[in-house]
Amino acid sequence: MSLNYLANGLSGRVALNGEVRVPGDKSISHRAIMFGALADGVTEVTGFLNGEDCLSTQRAFEAMGVKVDTLSATSLTVHGVGIDGLVAPTEALDLGNSGTSMRLMSGILSGQGFDSVLTGDASLSKRPMRRVTDPLAAMGAAIETTSNGTAPLKVQGGQALQALHYDSPVASAQVKSAILLAGLYAEGETVVTEPGLSRDHTERMLQGFGYEVDSKPQYAALKGGGRLTATAINVPADISSAAFLLVAASITPGSDLLLHNIGMNPTRTGVIDILRLMGADIEVHNERLQGGEPVADLQVRYCGLKGIHVPEELVPLAIDEFPALFVAASFAEGETVVTGAEELRVKESDRIQVMADGLQSMGIEVEATADGMVVQGLSQKAPAGGVVIDAQHDHRIAMSFVIASLMSRCDITVQGCETVNTSFPTFFPLMARLGAQLSEC
Ligand code: S3P
Repeated sequence: MSLNYLANGLSGRVALNGEVRVPGDKSISHRAIMFGALADGVTEVTGFLNGEDCLSTQRAFEAMGVKVDTLSATSLTVHGVGIDGLVAPTEALDLGNSGTSMRLMSGILSGQGFDSVLTGDASLSKRPMRRVTDPLAAMGAAIETTSNGTAPLKVQGGQALQALHYDSPVASAQVKSAILLAGLYAEGETVVTEPGLSRDHTERMLQGFGYEVDSKPQYAALKGGGRLTATAINVPADISSAAFLLVAASITPGSDLLLHNIGMNPTRTGVIDILRLMGADIEVHNERLQGGEPVADLQVRYCGLKGIHVPEELVPLAIDEFPALFVAASFAEGETVVTGAEELRVKESDRIQVMADGLQSMGIEVEATADGMVVQGLSQKAPAGGVVIDAQHDHRIAMSFVIASLMSRCDITVQGCETVNTSFPTFFPLMARLGAQLSEC
């Protein structure tokens, strides 16, 4: 059943103030389950994101014989079965909305002795999978996709994998990770290079599990045949979830928020750099290391933003934050231009088109381009009677239009808000506590 919210326009007359904790990092939570499952010993995970995507990963590994004890909403223990200890699932593994689960698991499952099938929801079933199945096939994996190169993926086990040197055409951590994880089962050294920086949580966490990885910018390599040793993972808060609050506070007069324990991995902090280039007032406090990942507390205060041309090298470092950044641009003075962001077209939805259509329906002047968007800030000519936005099974679309309501001159009904549970299950109560005028409808 669809959960819809009516967000009253100009609810941002209420400034956002206070201290906020956002849930755990999605990328790190997925990997904690996966690597914990493949390790020898018991891995303790705290700060886990119990959102739908990570629960899909958890259920999939449980279906392959891994015992997971849930101790609280955010802490669990994973009883590792060892690198070769997974057992055949009795049915298809349904990964819901989660591209990370499907792509990383296709690498892991390529190296197993059993067959498996990976399925997903309507959104995931449209996303391109050849970007992982082609290089995996070059390693000797046997994976069948639909004729469009989409899920369901049928993985035939029992293949002898060979190491690969792969020069990836795309800066994608999911592609890199799928190949590296297959590389755990391959003979020889698997190397992945990339045309730009992508997030390096796989490399960092494998090292945390005692696995040797040669990792430098745009390069990662490992040798197959090793083992992982269980460890403790304390997951930082997700900067991609914090991004909605960074934008919300930056555009809403009088706001001042303190966000605790945010993951500050340098491959993820593009949103801070971009907002600062737009003039945002974001302070980084109390920088420290937590389990191999840098974290900090972020203070963000309202500051009239200005439009910019977003530097292309920052795009992969903020790839999940563009829906929120398009909202920031809509309420910034002047023009914002985003280029080099064609990857946005193959996320949980086509985030260029869906955001452009939604912002246009709000009366904001924007132009979708093949690889980005041009946004005329402060151009809203609000339509009478409000607008209706369909979240299109995309959590970040739903949250972006709720944030947009803070400064919108029209009401916004967002349909399909249950998708927010994918990554930020506490989003609506948190926004309501901060003063956003929201009602279920
Ligand atoms: C992720 C990588 C990114 C990101 C996704 C999570 C990961 O995708 O968009 O939300 O955890 O590896 P790409 O690798 O396709 O850019």
